[in-house]
Amino acid sequence: MTDLAALLTVDELEAAARERLAPAAYDYYRSGADLEHTLRRNRDAYEGYAIAHRAFVDVSSPRLSTTVLGSAVATPILVAPTAYHRLACEDGERATARAAARAGSLYVASTLATTRLEDVADAAPGAPRWFQLYVHKDRDFTARLAARACAAGYGAVVLTCDTPVLGRRLADVKNRFALPPGLTMANLVEALPPDLASGDGSELARYVASRLEPALTLADLRWIVDAVAPIPVVVKGVVRGDDAARALDHGARAIWVSNHGGRQLDYGLPTVDALSDVVAAVGGRAEVYVDGGVRSGAQALVALGLGARAVFVGRPVLWGLAAGGEEGALRALGLLTEELTRAMQVAGCPTLEAAREVVCKRGCAR
Ligand code: FNR
Ligand code: LAC
Repeated sequence: MTDLAALLTVDELEAAARERLAPAAYDYYRSGADLEHTLRRNRDAYEGYAIAHRAFVDVSSPRLSTTVLGSAVATPILVAPTAYHRLACEDGERATARAAARAGSLYVASTLATTRLEDVADAAPGAPRWFQLYVHKDRDFTARLAARACAAGYGAVVLTCDTPVLGRRLADVKNRFALPPGLTMANLVEALPPDLASGDGSELARYVASRLEPALTLADLRWIVDAVAPIPVVVKGVVRGDDAARALDHGARAIWVSNHGGRQLDYGLPTVDALSDVVAAVGGRAEVYVDGGVRSGAQALVALGLGARAVFVGRPVLWGLAAGGEEGALRALGLLTEELTRAMQVAGCPTLEAAREVVCKRGCAR
C-alpha cells in the first residue's frame, strides 16, 4: 500500500502511480499529441508569470470557497473529465466522485468513462457534478446521452469542442492501446462499432474516428443548449477570445480554456498564455475556467490571478487514483488545495479575488 502522506507533490504522486499502473495505462494517461510540445508547454508556460506578494495583509483566514455556475465548492481546484478511471483502480470513476465530494470539489464525468454516468452519480449523490459530452455523428444517441445526464442530476453539460478528431498519441499507437477485457466505455455500449476491438493502433482513436462528430459547429452548440435547457452548457476546449465570444453568443453559460492537456494538437497555445485574452473577450459575461499543466497550488494561484474562476486538473487526479484509489485522488486534491492556501497566504491574498492584484507577467512591475 502506498504511503500517501509521504507523497508531498503531484509529481511524487505520478511516480507512485507509474509503479502501480500497467505500462500502457500509464502511457495513455501521460501522453500528449505527437512530439508533446504542447504537453510540455502547458506546464512550462507558467514560468512566464510571477506573483508579486503583498505584505502587511491579514491572511490568518484565507477563503478558498467559491461557486461555479451557482454550485458551491470549498476549493477552486476542480476535477477535469478524463476517460477510463477503472484502468487506475477497480472503483474507477466512483472513487473519483467520492474523493471530489470529500474534497469539497466538483467532478466532471467523461462521456468515455468506464462507469455508467448514473452509477457515478449514485457514488456521491449530494455532491456537485457536471457531465462532459462528446457530440456523436448519431445526434439521437447524443441527445439521449445528454438527457440521461440531466435526469441523473448533473448540474451542467460540458461540451468538448477541441476533439473533432483525436490527437495522435504515439505511445498508444505503439502499444495498440485498448481497454483490457472486462472494461468498456460504459456510457456508450449501444454505440460501440462491432469492429472496434480489431485493428492497428489505438482502440480509442478508432472509436473517435468512427463515432464522434468532426463537423461540430456552433449550430450544434445551440442545439445542445436548447436540448438540455435549463441545464447550463459549458464549452470546453477554447483558447481564442473570438471562439469564446461566439460560444457565448450561441448559448454557452461558461468558457473552459483548455487544449485537452496537450493531447490534441502539437504546438498548441499553452492554456495559461491563452487565458488573459479569453477573459478579456468574455468581458465578465460568463465564468472562465482553465486547465492544463497545473501541478501545484502556486500555478493555480497564477491562473486565478489571470481571471480564471476555477482551475481544473486532469492527470493529478489520475495519479492519485492510481497511487491509492479514492484516498489517492483525495490526496491529490488535498495537496493542491493546501499548496494554494499557503501560496495565497504568503502572497497576501485573503480571498481568491485578491489573486488578481498580485499575479503578473514575469519581469513586470505591478
Ligand atoms: C483527458 N481529457 C479529456 N477531456 C474531455 O473533454 N473528455 C475526455 O474524455 C477526456 N479524457 C482524458 C483522458 C486523459 C487520460 C487525459 C490526461 C485527459 C482532457 C482533460 O479534461 C483536461 O483537459 C486535461 O487533462 C487537463 O490537463 P492536465 O491537468 O491533465 O495537465
Ligand atoms: C483522451 C480522450 C478520451 O484525451 O478525450 O484520451
